[in-house]
Amino acid sequence: MKNIILLGPPGAGKGTQADLICELCNIPKISTGDMLREAVASGSDLGKKVSNILDTGGLVSDEIIGSLIEDRLTKPDCINGSLFDGVPRTLGQASKLADMGINFTHVIEITVQDEVIVNRMSGRRVHPGSGRNYHITYNPPKIEGIDDISGESLIQREDDKPETVLKRLEVYHDQTKPLTNFYIEESSKGDLNYFTVNGEHRVEEVFKNIEDQI
Ligand code: AP5
Repeated sequence: MKNIILLGPPGAGKGTQADLICELCNIPKISTGDMLREAVASGSDLGKKVSNILDTGGLVSDEIIGSLIEDRLTKPDCINGSLFDGVPRTLGQASKLADMGINFTHVIEITVQDEVIVNRMSGRRVHPGSGRNYHITYNPPKIEGIDDISGESLIQREDDKPETVLKRLEVYHDQTKPLTNFYIEESSKGDLNYFTVNGEHRVEEVFKNIEDQI
C-alpha cells in the first residue's frame, strides 16, 4: 500500500512526475487541480463556483477540497493506495486528510526556484481530457500541439499567464510551503518517508531520483 503526497510549487513538475509514479506503483492519481478544471469544463455548480478562483490563482476552500477527496477515495481503484498531486495545499487540508484516516507512506517535495517556474509555465501545453502535460522545449509531444496518446489537441492553461503564475507562487509560499515542516515533523514520529528532489534536473533524472527512494 502506497499513499504518496507530491508537494511543490506550481510548475515544479508534480503532474509530470505523478503520471510516471502512478505507472510505476500502479496507483491512481488524485489531482484536485484536474478535478476542479473538469468541473469548470462541465459547467457544473461546483465549476461555476470555482472558475474565477482558478483563473486568478487563488485557493479553493478546504471544505470543497475535503469533500472532493472523500468522494474520490470511495472509488475501488484507491484500494492499493493513491498519489496525491497538489493536495493537501494548506494545513487545514492536511488535517482533513488525517481525519479521513489516510496513512501516508511518502511525502515527496519537488523543489524549483521561482525564476525557473515563470519561464516553464509559458511553454506548458496540456491535454484537457487527461491532464497530461508537455513543454514545447523540455518535454515536447511527438507531434506539435497534439496529445501523444489520444491524438487530440493540446491547450494552454488560462492560469499560466505570467501575472497569474506570480500570484500562484505567492499563495504557495504563504499557504502551502508551511506543510513541508508539518510533514518533516510527522516523518520524525513514525513510518512516513519524507524526501526532497531537485526538480530543475531533466524529467527522467527527477523520476530516477524518486524511483530510487520509493
Ligand atoms: P494545479 O493544477 O494543481 O496546479 P499547480 O499545483 O499550481 O501545479 P501545476 O499543475 O501548475 O504544475 P505541476 O507542478 O503539476 O507541474 P507540471 O508537471 O504541469 O492547481 C490549479 C489550481 O486549482 C490552483 O491554482 C488552485 O486554484 C486550484 N487547486 C488545485 N488543488 C487545490 C487544493 N488542494 N486546494 C485549493 N485549491 C486547489 O509541469 C509544468 C511544466 O514544466 C510542463 O510544461 C512540464 O512539461 C514542464 N516540466 C515538468 N518537469 C520538468 C523538468 N524537470 N524540466 C523542465 N520542464 C519540466
